[in-house]
Amino acid sequence: MKKDLLAISDIEPEDIEEIFSRAEFLKRKFYAGEVYQPLKGKTLGMIFKKSSTRTRISFEAGMYQLGGHAIFLSSKDLQMDRGESIADTAKIFSLYLNGIVIRTYSQEEVEELAANSSIPVINGLTDLHHPCQILCDMFTIKEKLGRLEGVKVAYIGDGNNIANSWLDGASKMGMNLSISSPAGYEPDAGIVKRAALSAGKNSGKIEMTNDPFEAVRDADIIYTDVWTSMGQEREYEKRLKDFRRFQVNTEMVRAAKKNVLVMHCLPAHRGEEISDDVIDGERSIVFEEAENRLHVQKAILELLMGGKK
Ligand code: CP
Ligand code: NVA
Repeated sequence: MKKDLLAISDIEPEDIEEIFSRAEFLKRKFYAGEVYQPLKGKTLGMIFKKSSTRTRISFEAGMYQLGGHAIFLSSKDLQMDRGESIADTAKIFSLYLNGIVIRTYSQEEVEELAANSSIPVINGLTDLHHPCQILCDMFTIKEKLGRLEGVKVAYIGDGNNIANSWLDGASKMGMNLSISSPAGYEPDAGIVKRAALSAGKNSGKIEMTNDPFEAVRDADIIYTDVWTSMGQEREYEKRLKDFRRFQVNTEMVRAAKKNVLVMHCLPAHRGEEISDDVIDGERSIVFEEAENRLHVQKAILELLMGGKK
């Protein structure tokens, strides 16, 4: 593994397999109630410029469970918000801490932080990527279906950070990813191109369509996310109209494979991108998916922060 986890495109399929096998081990220990503390004496700093329930809690709890300590740093309380440079902040963090999780707007900021830190930096979501989420999602799919290769994921909705990280992840692991967004809301063109190349090498397939029903045909997984991401709140009304045909509801689930599984990174805007009956229905695995944030991120912490024996 490299020093940092900034995007899935930076890591190799073998790294992903290593994270999965470690996550499986840690999940087993957690279920057995066994104490396992490879990060004793280590401290994780957590800079959050956007809200979070799952990412913050799972990283904080995960760090404690591994024997370490986590400090939550709201950016408004740091000197960063009063103009201290990212590079200087990174150097200071490296003197006190053993790792950093950052959730912010720009991917460049995360890259600059990593470039100036001697300690691992983990991307906890930017406007462009959410690597930890998609690693957890792929782990969940592997748990459920026993494999990733050849599994078809239909991503329905906004071409946002989640869609971008899905492009990186699916293409590395030989999956078939079909993304359906309304015209004008497709994922980042550069990332689509990169993913198509990587899929070619790994026997995967990337498809893009504006027709959600075409995307879900033969899908093993239907995945969706909010239509309005953090930072886009002013576009809410327009997006409601533009995404109308893209709700994951019973009709859409019926158009996929009979035993299709439904996923959502959460938080959900029920009644918008997903209907209540689908998210609460028998095909939904959204809460198991959320649970795995803890186990997979603990594996990431253990691997990056050097606790692995
Ligand atoms: N899925 C996810 O990252 O959730 P939070 O925004 O609650 O962390
Ligand atoms: N696309 C969403 C994901 C939240 C976990 C957002 O960025 O708000």
